[in-house]
Amino acid sequence: MTQPPTPSVAPATGRLGVLTVGLGAVASTLIAGVELTKRGLGLPIGSLTQMGTIRLGKRTEDRTPLIKDFVPLAALEDIVWGAWDVFPDDAYVAASRAGVLESGKHIESISDALREVRPMQAAFERKYARNLDGEHIKATTSKRAMLEAIREDINRFKEDNKCERLVMIWCASTEIFIEPGKAHMDIESFEKAIDANDETIAPSQLYAYAALLEGVPFSNGAPNLSVDAPVLRQYATDHNVAISGKDFKTGQTLMKTVLAPMLKARMLGLQGWYSTNILGNRDGEVLDAPENFKTKEESKLGVLEDILQPSKYPDLYGNVFHKVSINYYPPRGDAKEGWDNIDITGWLGYPMQIKVNFLCRDSILAAPLALDLVLFSDLAQRAGMGGIQEWLSFYYKSPQVAPGLYPEHDLFIQLTKLKNTLRWMMGEDVITHLGRDYYEEI
Ligand SMILES: NC(=O)c1ccc[n+]([C@@H]2O[C@H](COP(=O)([O-])OP(=O)(O)OC[C@H]3O[C@@H](n4cnc5c(N)ncnc54)[C@H](O)[C@@H]3O)[C@@H](O)[C@H]2O)c1
Repeated sequence: MTQPPTPSVAPATGRLGVLTVGLGAVASTLIAGVELTKRGLGLPIGSLTQMGTIRLGKRTEDRTPLIKDFVPLAALEDIVWGAWDVFPDDAYVAASRAGVLESGKHIESISDALREVRPMQAAFERKYARNLDGEHIKATTSKRAMLEAIREDINRFKEDNKCERLVMIWCASTEIFIEPGKAHMDIESFEKAIDANDETIAPSQLYAYAALLEGVPFSNGAPNLSVDAPVLRQYATDHNVAISGKDFKTGQTLMKTVLAPMLKARMLGLQGWYSTNILGNRDGEVLDAPENFKTKEESKLGVLEDILQPSKYPDLYGNVFHKVSINYYPPRGDAKEGWDNIDITGWLGYPMQIKVNFLCRDSILAAPLALDLVLFSDLAQRAGMGGIQEWLSFYYKSPQVAPGLYPEHDLFIQLTKLKNTLRWMMGEDVITHLGRDYYEEI
């Protein structure tokens, strides 16, 4: 198959405004982490854009630059932070409240920068997250008025902060489960539904639509529908705006998308996968409402089926019992603990078990993904690559893909795809790993 022509990538000049919807644990950890990194007070561990390398050409060439030296990413020094939240807390208060970072070491030293990030009023309705009750919200529940207000916020922020470009990332709470329906099919229906205050248009869709209308790339770190609806996908494609989602792939699902492909690669069978978590942060509190958890559950459950393809391997994966639960348990705060019990089968059907106990830190895992997503989305936009950015699947539990495609969940295929996209963007050969040439030329 012939390769599409290499795009020309505009340079990353000027300031990049990063707008986070939500200024909670993930967003404040992201902002603090970048500010600490800029000052040499912390290392951006977990971020491919900051720490990762990329092999170019043949293995014998020894060309392996850092990704950030290879592709023209925005410099951390050029980022300006903006946010919306239903609470008025600035990033200093938000980071202190979230309890993710040590105050003396990682908050006080950058308190000035954090204090400067004050959220704009949220476009919010409680029916989409009933366990949240904040007052810092727009004084309207008219969806049209909310949409226009978000657009005004975007433009004001850009002007006030003299930004060359903007990106928006959803780091706000998971909304209730909404399936794409009539209102989400085309622009006429969507516009009408906004005017009619249709309940199936959640605030996350208004933020996403506002971003697209303003030509701002949008990434979705939560599992709610948001930009993953036919109408917004089409709009983003038609207007050449980069979009990606959904739901940061951080803890248990990260593990799942490493282990499940291993089982399949070795043709080991699977009888059941029982996953449970305890989590005590505000995210956990919002997810304690069943209608919000349903959104997360759908995102977490889809992964195994897509990886294992039971219809192709009925003897191995035809009857898998998969269960996922999250239990709100305040004493743990952001330090999530996940347990997986995996019942597998080997040669002749003999049963075996794998147990995983991941004691992780939710926002410590999510912040670097959010950073990479904003930098790569900005890069894609400068390369003129609008619509769904499937090469960013690496970061998501439920990767957004074109209609008719199944998502690729295998972490290492996702990474290969991401790096090949970067190689292609910069006019380097993509790497197929065929490797016959090493032997044929000798
Ligand atoms: N490892 C992870 O941390 C992880 C992984 C995958 C997905 N996520 C998702 O990322 C999101 C953020 O996680 P978190 O731990 O930072 O949660 P959080 O509760 O600490 O922060 C979310 C913030 O969003 C705000 N918010 C809610 N609705 C809003 C709206 N309409 N407009 C503006 N602000 C709004 C809330 O007030 C809150 O401050 C959640 O949806 C979570 O499910 C997190």
